[in-house]
Amino acid sequence: HNGQEFDYPPSFIPDVILEKDEFLNATFPPGFHWGVATAAYQIEGAWNESGKGESIWDKFAHDSRLANRDTGDVACDSYHKYQEDVRMVKSLGVSHYRFSIAWSRLLPDGRSSSLNAAAVRYYNDLINELHANAITPMVTLYHWDLPQALQEIGGWENDTIIDYFNDYAKTCFEHFGDRVPLWITFNEAFVVSWLGYGIGVFAPGVSKPGDGVYRVAHNIIRSHVKAYRTYDKTYRSRYHGKVGITLDCDWKEPITTEAMDRYAAERALQFKLGWFANPIYGNGDYPAVMRSTLDRKSQQEGRTESRLPRFTEEEKRMNRGANDFFGLNHYTTQYVRHNRDDRRSHYEGDQDLYTKVDDCWPGSRSDWLKVNPWGLRRLLRWVRDRYGNPPIYVTENGISDDGSLDDQNRIDFYRAYTNEMLKAILRDGCNVKGYMAWSLMDNLEWTSGYTQKFGIYQVDFNSPNRTRTPKKSAAFFRRLATTNGYN
Ligand code: NOJ
Repeated sequence: HNGQEFDYPPSFIPDVILEKDEFLNATFPPGFHWGVATAAYQIEGAWNESGKGESIWDKFAHDSRLANRDTGDVACDSYHKYQEDVRMVKSLGVSHYRFSIAWSRLLPDGRSSSLNAAAVRYYNDLINELHANAITPMVTLYHWDLPQALQEIGGWENDTIIDYFNDYAKTCFEHFGDRVPLWITFNEAFVVSWLGYGIGVFAPGVSKPGDGVYRVAHNIIRSHVKAYRTYDKTYRSRYHGKVGITLDCDWKEPITTEAMDRYAAERALQFKLGWFANPIYGNGDYPAVMRSTLDRKSQQEGRTESRLPRFTEEEKRMNRGANDFFGLNHYTTQYVRHNRDDRRSHYEGDQDLYTKVDDCWPGSRSDWLKVNPWGLRRLLRWVRDRYGNPPIYVTENGISDDGSLDDQNRIDFYRAYTNEMLKAILRDGCNVKGYMAWSLMDNLEWTSGYTQKFGIYQVDFNSPNRTRTPKKSAAFFRRLATTNGYN
């Protein structure tokens, strides 16, 4: 062992409920970036308009895989209402707007030969409208909506995806790079891999938790790295932008201070976040604990090759440092305990030998989302300790409810989570550059359809023009962004 997964750096020192109100009087560092986030399939609608091709989420929805048979066919109708969206972002007083480009709108069959001029116009208009309002675009290239045509050849399981993604990224850099300073290659690489190809509850609905999921993750990492290197080589000197990837992680808190429980929590973080972060932000390779666990299991299963693919030395060299910032989506925490009975945890796949322990925190409209603000601070420190304190953008954080205008819960959530982030910055020295709230407005929550609302703006999905109304949290968020604190 290289010891990496057995170390317990300061993130694990119990400091539990600590400083309270003093930080509500402090302010964020000058120039801190506040923003709000959305994603194409969740808001755009116009699913087959002006030359847009079908994506795997169009197909998944049309196959009735979403709650109430909901679809993103119209969603928030942002394809037609982007000017109003920008006005909403503007009135929140934030400096950044994070949105995603729909690959299948820009390149209907996924290949760069199929460039759709109407899509170039749409994203140009949106980006120009943002700049006209002094809002900086942060653009996600892949927020889950793979062109169906590429799924037909295996999607992320097929190695050729690396070149298709690179061509797509190039097309975006080429057309929009002069006005986009912040690029995110992938949103939530874990979710794309595990939910899409491990347990198959998200599009494309493939279930290969044994080995397919690791090949998919391998291709996502290699796709990110290739697109990063492309930007580096061809566009950086011209545009001076930054490129990162957004990884999602819950905080995993050991249920006791016993070594085996702490090791189990650390292992859970390595299997979830380290899986992608270690190659890109660490030593260029998978975490040692994933390598040893999966090699051992694969051997026991009588396989000649490990289920966890290997990077070549050349690939490891290219992986290392392939980032300009760390994008982090964070919502919730679970307690973790070493599994003394050796029972498998189904959801967590190969991270067996531990169990998640139910918690006692306040819930939300989403069963997976429990409110535990200090988890964010610990996660930020974990990233600081493992990957050399990289610049971090919290690219998503938020809470769901039923969508009512009086959303005091959301205000409390934002106040508490951002305050833990502030402690991480001021007290722990974490290098957090910005915070994007999820979400600008209520939208399509994937397989939950329109049943879980994360918006700072309410959207009336029964009105033909998708009327938007600011919730109570809009005023709170505006104060947070404009005063850079809680005043
Ligand atoms: C993760 C995803 O990136 C986003 O699309 C989703 O709506 C939110 N978190 C809430 O689940």
